[in-house]
Amino acid sequence: MEYVVSTNGLTKIFGNFTAVDNLTINIRPGEIYGFLGPNGSGKTTTIRMLCGLLEPTSGSGTVLGYDLVRESEKIKSKIGYMSQKFSLYEDLTVYENLDFYAGMYSIPYQERKKRIGEMLEMSLLAGREDELVSNLSGGFKQRLAMGCSIISRPSLLFLDEPTSGISPTSRRMFFQIIQRMANEGVTVMVTTHFMDEAERCYQIAFISEGMLIANDTPDNLKQKVITGCMLEADLPDALRRIDSIEKLPYVKDCTIHGQMLHVLLESESHLEAFNQFTGANSTIIEPSLEDVFISLARKKRKQVS
Ligand SMILES: Nc1ncnc2c1ncn2[C@@H]1O[C@H](COP(=O)(O)OP(=O)(O)O)[C@@H](O)[C@H]1O
Ligand SMILES: [Mg+2]
Repeated sequence: MEYVVSTNGLTKIFGNFTAVDNLTINIRPGEIYGFLGPNGSGKTTTIRMLCGLLEPTSGSGTVLGYDLVRESEKIKSKIGYMSQKFSLYEDLTVYENLDFYAGMYSIPYQERKKRIGEMLEMSLLAGREDELVSNLSGGFKQRLAMGCSIISRPSLLFLDEPTSGISPTSRRMFFQIIQRMANEGVTVMVTTHFMDEAERCYQIAFISEGMLIANDTPDNLKQKVITGCMLEADLPDALRRIDSIEKLPYVKDCTIHGQMLHVLLESESHLEAFNQFTGANSTIIEPSLEDVFISLARKKRKQVS
């Protein structure tokens, strides 16, 4: 199978509001596919359609070779899905939660103990299987929810903001688990707002207002979206000067990143002029994915207004 997920003009309209607009994407086996976009841009709606939980208004697609509309039941039974608001049973133990999901996926009895053991290990909960879920911290809950959604060993996994609201350490650990699974051949589609996670995706699709506005590898996105020379300037009064800097004819873009100003010049040849104008010592930097997304969002806004 060339593509594990393939859509053509997928669209979802709620009333008169278009949440997902003519979306065409393809995901190859074993890929970590990052699905990015601002809040409300249609990520969850897309994932719910791909999981066979929500019928598209128009457009078509296949998931694991099954038709999104006609074979949604097959899709539901074959994939793993961890929703944005994953549901664990807080008043049940760790073990009971895993056992419940093992039952839901009809994993044979003789196989369950072994699978549950694997999931306990993955979520670093071995030895704590009799604890109530309500006593677990955020990171453990998140990993347990992941365990519940992969206990059926799906070859395709949808993760909707799996790392929001957990500590940076838990986030890193969680993404390592995702990477390990991808190395074993599992395809993962994941939504995230964290750039360090997006950086680890093989492919990134960026959507805005339901529309796909970029789709490529992180490296290609940096090269194609950011054309020019990116500078980082340390200006103490950056906020006050951003307007005058943006007006310079050779400045294409200017944004604040923490204390620093990121400035996109038309080319490196304007570096000296820029330094003279600002009196700052700026350094040429590689654009980050964050620069890419800011630039994409800005282009999109300009198109709309
Ligand atoms: N069942 C629904 N009925 C009406 N509007 C919805 C429904 N589900 C989602 N939406 C709207 O669709 C848009 C996209 O939502 P969503 O897919 O959750 O975005 P994201 O996951 O990117 O934050 C939002 O404006 C949301 O309010
Ligand atoms: Mg969402």
